[in-house]
Amino acid sequence: MSSKTLSKEEYLTKAKDLLSGNQKPLQLESADFFLVAKERRSVRSYDPTFQMPDEDILEILETAIQAPSSSNLQPWRFLVIKDQELKQELLPIANNQQQVVEASAVIAVLSDIEGYKNADKIYGKLAEEGMMDKDLKDAYVNSIIKGYGSFSPEKALQVAMIDGGLVSMQIMLAAKAMGYDTVAMGGYDEGKFVEAFHVPANFKPVMLIALGKGEKAGRVKNRMPLEDVLTWNKY
Ligand SMILES: Cc1cc2nc3c(=O)[nH]c(=O)nc-3n(C[C@H](O)[C@H](O)[C@H](O)COP(=O)(O)O)c2cc1C
Repeated sequence: MSSKTLSKEEYLTKAKDLLSGNQKPLQLESADFFLVAKERRSVRSYDPTFQMPDEDILEILETAIQAPSSSNLQPWRFLVIKDQELKQELLPIANNQQQVVEASAVIAVLSDIEGYKNADKIYGKLAEEGMMDKDLKDAYVNSIIKGYGSFSPEKALQVAMIDGGLVSMQIMLAAKAMGYDTVAMGGYDEGKFVEAFHVPANFKPVMLIALGKGEKAGRVKNRMPLEDVLTWNKY
């Protein structure tokens, strides 16, 4: 094996050259879960002329926020970047990955490390609706504020990233089920992104997701065999 490496930008933009010819992404005939999960691929070429209706973006996000989260605190926050000039501004920050400007939208999935402060809002609603005893609600909320409020920064970030990852996956699957394509992106300069898009300090970027009408199919699935990654019962 040669010892050649690629620059970060080359590494990310070369991914496009590894695509499967000029095939279009597969348009699914049904939104059967197993089909959607198998057929979702990272798509890096989009129809730049396609205008994705806001209602579709909202439906995808509405579906995505049904994801589970730690203590149901739902720390995800979404910054949907649709404006073409802003996508152009994001392009160099995201290592010139063309999907940033070609896709209809780039969803920045963020996670609020202070999301636990919404505990009373979330559980208060349950109490109001008679689905939770008021005293239990108070005790529950107090425990959350005390527990999450004393997390180390590392632990708070870990929880935020887990919840943010779960909602991100749901975005990608919901998009595929609705006939759209996506690619998750970690290849961007987080500091520059936060600065340019005025992201509040407590909102930690999880990933960017390009979303739109796919133009070229993503790579054929290439996975290690299940037996290489699976252990039953104990290591
Ligand atoms: C957190 C995360 C970050 C990623 N970052 C990038 C990226 O910056 N650019 C890119 O082209 N693909 C990126 N990908 C896509 C992966 O390369 C892709 O998921 C992987 O090769 C498997 O292919 P598939 O998604 O088509 O199944 C990222 C995926 C994840 C989950």
